[in-house]
Amino acid sequence: MLHLYFAPLEGITTYPYRNLHHKYFGGVDKYFTPFLAPGPEQGMSVKEMRDVLPENNAGVPVVPQILTNRAGDFLLASKKLAEMGYREINLNLGCPSGTVTAKKKGSGFLLYPDDLDRFFDEVFSDASVRNGEFQISVKTRIGKNEVEEWPEIMEVYNRYPISELTVHPRIQKEFYKGVPHLDVFADILKESRNPVVYNGDLFTAEHMKKFREKFPTVENVMIGRGLIRNPALAELIKIEEAGVENAHVCVESETGNKETSSEQTGKTVPMSGNTGGNLMPRIRAFHDEIFEYYRETMSGDRNLLFRMKDLWSYMLEEVPDSEKLAKKIRKSQHVPEYLAAVDEAFAGWERTF
Ligand SMILES: Cc1cc2nc3c(=O)[nH]c(=O)nc-3n(C[C@H](O)[C@H](O)[C@H](O)COP(=O)(O)O)c2cc1C
Repeated sequence: MLHLYFAPLEGITTYPYRNLHHKYFGGVDKYFTPFLAPGPEQGMSVKEMRDVLPENNAGVPVVPQILTNRAGDFLLASKKLAEMGYREINLNLGCPSGTVTAKKKGSGFLLYPDDLDRFFDEVFSDASVRNGEFQISVKTRIGKNEVEEWPEIMEVYNRYPISELTVHPRIQKEFYKGVPHLDVFADILKESRNPVVYNGDLFTAEHMKKFREKFPTVENVMIGRGLIRNPALAELIKIEEAGVENAHVCVESETGNKETSSEQTGKTVPMSGNTGGNLMPRIRAFHDEIFEYYRETMSGDRNLLFRMKDLWSYMLEEVPDSEKLAKKIRKSQHVPEYLAAVDEAFAGWERTF
């Protein structure tokens, strides 16, 4: 059965976004937090703690992600997170940002397989990990400078019981450009002793269909930008996967769980959140609630609109002929101007569903 994970996006998928996404849409099995970068003494910052506090994530399946190259810091933060109830902690070995990689963190750590090995050795020898208090998953690129680095990195991963290895098949230098190295991903799939999750450039249900045809054994897939572009994407993919067409009917199952079902086939797709109904009003309501949340919690139109413009830089990909609109949204300085442009964007988007 296909499982879909919402990728972490720093500055976007913090807890308000995750909560509201989960409230409005189904189809996501796990939400990963943007990376937390705990220090040796101070641990997590106040802002980072807020993102993972159980009361801020109630009812949402969340996996916290940590960015570090120090086993001690990783373990300290993981134990704190385990005390809060988290059972999976994800290690970031993919971040391509120059300031991160220069410190030998994120995908910068991949250039040092021996150090990575020592890191994992210390982490997996710790009693808390051996006792199964929490599992450790990894999100990785396939190398720092060269694609050829991956076999040595894989050897390290294969020595440890990583619960899931999410592979974004690009090297650091490529950031998010070009085409993911699916040939390398195919090799990793063969070589990995640990369960593999695919991540990269799946923006539509059609992309996912093609990916599933090419890699029918991959049951776990992580999506980032595609879900920001179209927040209903996971739900649409799950519906398509089950062979349920035109299935926008919301039913309560006998167990009380929400399911989307088709009157034609009777097949059901278990959903983690609120599902059913016409998608556009839900996307609009989702947008409006995010907007209201940031309006109440951020100071000034400038900060608020900066956040919202960032979201639209992805969402406008779903709106046909949106160049002029993009300019309008980008240039809006005040809420009324912004909302007028957004009304137009939603009217255009409606045509694509
Ligand atoms: C703005 C932005 C912020 C990101 N922040 C994180 C992060 O905090 N942790 C992480 O592991 N990956 C991060 N990523 C990478 C995404 O999780 C994901 O791997 C990447 O976007 C490729 O997947 P996609 O093609 O489905 O978007 C970020 C990507 C973007 C574009």
